[in-house]
Amino acid sequence: MTKAIDLLFNEHELITKAIEQTHAFLSDVANGSRSIEEMHNRIHFFRNYADRYHHHKEEEILFPEMSKRNELLADGVIQEMLENHADFRDMLADIESTVNAGDIQTLQKQFANYAEALLDHIAVENDEVFHMAETLFSEDELDNIYYRFLDCDRELDEDNKREMEEAVGKG
Ligand SMILES: [Fe+2]
Ligand SMILES: [Fe+2]
Repeated sequence: MTKAIDLLFNEHELITKAIEQTHAFLSDVANGSRSIEEMHNRIHFFRNYADRYHHHKEEEILFPEMSKRNELLADGVIQEMLENHADFRDMLADIESTVNAGDIQTLQKQFANYAEALLDHIAVENDEVFHMAETLFSEDELDNIYYRFLDCDRELDEDNKREMEEAVGKG
């Protein structure tokens, strides 16, 4: 795997881990051992890490480069991936409203739908989109994309990214 794809792949792994932790957290909320209010921190992680740091790299760098190479991709799977990202934003807004309403049963259902859709999306990227990227670009081009990804994290705040990774890593 190239460095560029490896970076996105590792972000997917962390997002997957955060999803598992959130399912466990919501079970604790349902049995009364944790407060639903703590869900705000988790929403912040998905908005910040999954969307602002991760989806941003795909939307601003990888997908436009792939679309320039192949118009069929632009209208096909890339379009589908972008629509998924927009749906995830809407789903998080609904999840936030439900947290504010204090409705754990609806929250568990909404989060289960969000998690399933996000995991499906990640699987399509890992199994199809990233593989296409590695065949579309030369090693130099992929290196260039990698350095643009690093710039992206630097502009957003690398320390903040690392803190989020450590927090999820610790469980
Ligand atoms: Fe994506
Ligand atoms: Fe992704």
